[in-house]
Amino acid sequence: MGRHKKTIGIIGSMDAEIAQYLKNSEPERTTDWNGITFHEAGLFGKSTVIVKSGVGKVFAAMVCERLIDIYGPVAVVFTGVAGALNSELDIGDVVLSKTCIQHDVDVQALGFMRGTIPYTELREFKADEKLLEIAQCTKLGSKKIIAGRILTGDQFITKKEMNEHKYLTDELHGDAIEMEGGSIAQVCTLNKIPFIIVRTVSDRADGTAASDFNKFLPVVARNSFDVVRNLLLNYRDGR
Ligand code: ADE
Repeated sequence: MGRHKKTIGIIGSMDAEIAQYLKNSEPERTTDWNGITFHEAGLFGKSTVIVKSGVGKVFAAMVCERLIDIYGPVAVVFTGVAGALNSELDIGDVVLSKTCIQHDVDVQALGFMRGTIPYTELREFKADEKLLEIAQCTKLGSKKIIAGRILTGDQFITKKEMNEHKYLTDELHGDAIEMEGGSIAQVCTLNKIPFIIVRTVSDRADGTAASDFNKFLPVVARNSFDVVRNLLLNYRDGR
């Protein structure tokens, strides 16, 4: 379908994370598949497929594989919000996935390091360097952009029990935490598709995370959008 057009896939997990993209795009065609809507659209001079995956690793993996198989993107960008684990991050700052680990993969009982997908070499997934470089150069007003480690798992983390979650910072050295990035990273890595996860901090993954998340989600998701706009304007695919 879009293979000749050098399409870029843009995935968010919730309406608020893709709203800006749909609003600014020139729609071409939408296709429904298993309750998921894929929007083929022009955006900042590029051909894109914009899709809301739904929350969590299973939805993210399913939608990402479908996107790759049907639309043949030259790159996949995940855009959305995350909780901060790094205390130097403020709400509204952006974290890019230099690396991603799925923190909820824990087969230590069989001797595998936390995050390792058992019986594989897969643990730490690296984003595409060209995408990282362009994203990092975005001008974001007063907010910071860092390239760091994003942790992914099927839990909304509030650090209510500090000891229970200490491994996120002390062992896995996470800068931000969310629920889809590591899954997108695994699917893209196995398919050999360049990817990047772009996350704006909506909360501090602490006791106030739930209220901050609801309060800041629609506002801060725009910072990820600004970074992705810069990516679309400047990315030249090497293939
Ligand atoms: N996404 C945004 N905030 C989050 C949190 N605290 N835990 C998991 N995913 C998140």
